Amino acid sequence: MIYSYAPMEGITTWWYRQVFSRHFDKIDRYYTFFLTPRYGNVMGRDVRELINENNQGLNVIPQVMTNKSDLFVDFVRDIKAKGYEEVNLNLGCPMQTVVGKQRASWFLAHPEELERFLDEIFSSSQLPISIKTRVGFDSLELLPRLVDIFNNYPIKELIVHPRLRSDFYKNSVNMEAFDFVYKSSKVPVGYNGDLFTPESVNDFRTRYPEVEHIMLGRGLICNPALARLCEGGSQLTIEEFFSFHSDMQRTMMNIMPGGDIYLDRMKEFWWYWCRLFEDGERLVKSIRKARKTIDYNCAVEKLFNNTAIKQRPYFL
Ligand SMILES: Cc1cc2nc3c(=O)[nH]c(=O)nc-3n(C[C@H](O)[C@H](O)[C@H](O)COP(=O)(O)O)c2cc1C
Repeated sequence: MIYSYAPMEGITTWWYRQVFSRHFDKIDRYYTFFLTPRYGNVMGRDVRELINENNQGLNVIPQVMTNKSDLFVDFVRDIKAKGYEEVNLNLGCPMQTVVGKQRASWFLAHPEELERFLDEIFSSSQLPISIKTRVGFDSLELLPRLVDIFNNYPIKELIVHPRLRSDFYKNSVNMEAFDFVYKSSKVPVGYNGDLFTPESVNDFRTRYPEVEHIMLGRGLICNPALARLCEGGSQLTIEEFFSFHSDMQRTMMNIMPGGDIYLDRMKEFWWYWCRLFEDGERLVKSIRKARKTIDYNCAVEKLFNNTAIKQRPYFL
C-alpha cells in the first residue's frame, strides 16, 4: 500500500514535511499544498516549497491550482528542471475565494471548460499529471460525465475525495459515489477521505483491494503514527509525540523569527493534537491562552506530566 500525506494549506509546508519525516515513517509521498502560479511574480512561499534543499530525501509531488493552461505548463517546466517527476492538479478545493476565481472545484460544475483546460495541459505538459478531485460541485448529476472526461486523458492517477464541493468537509464521504468512480474509471484511482483509524483503513482495503494509494489528511495530523499503525506498527507514545513537538517548535522558531509569532501556528496544530490526550480539550486551554514561549512551554509541560495518550487517539 502506498500512503501519502494529503496536501493541506497551512499544515503540509516544507518544514513540516522535514520535521514529520525525521520522526515518523511509512509515508511514501508528500503533496505540497496548492501552489498558485501567477504571471510575472512568483510567490516567495511557493518558491520555498519547491527548493530542492527543502525537500531532500522526500518524495514530493507539487500540487498546482490554476485555470490558466499557460501558467500550468510553465509551472511544470520549472518543476521538471528542479527534478520533480509528477504534478498534481487540484480540482477539489471548495473555498469560495477559489471557486469565485473559477478554479479547482469550480471545474466540476463546468465540464466544457474542464475539457478545454485538460486538452491544453495534456497536449503540452512535460510531466505526468495526476488529479485530486471531489465527486461533484453541488450534486452527483455530472459525475458520469466527469469520469468520461477523465477517461479521455492519460491521467497518471485520479485521487478521489468523495464529497461534493457543497459539503466542504461536512457530512460523510459518499462511498457510493466513490464506488461509481472506482468501477467506471480507466485511470488508476487513489482514495482520500475520513480514514482516521487503522480499522477504517483496513475496512477500506478489504473493500477495495485494487486501490493502491491511500492519502491521509486530518487523521495523520492528529496522530502522526497513523500510517505506521495501519501497517501493524506500534502505537504513538507520549515521549515520541513530545520529541516530535519539540522538534517542530525549534524548527518554527528558526524559520519564523520574530519572538512568539510562531505560537499562533503551533496552536493550529493543537486543534488536532488535543484529541490525542485524555481530557485533552480542557488541558489544551492553557496552551491556547499562552502568548509567550515561556508560558507556552509551561502549559505543554503540564500537559505532558498530567495526562496520557488515549487508547484510541484518533481524529474522530
Ligand atoms: C486545513 C486544510 C487545508 C487543506 N488544503 C488543501 C490543499 O492545499 N490542497 C488540496 O488538494 N486539498 C486540501 N485540503 C483537503 C485535504 O487534502 C483532504 O482532501 C481532506 O482533508 C480530506 O481528507 P481527510 O479526511 O483524510 O482529512 C485541505 C484540508 C484542510 C482541512
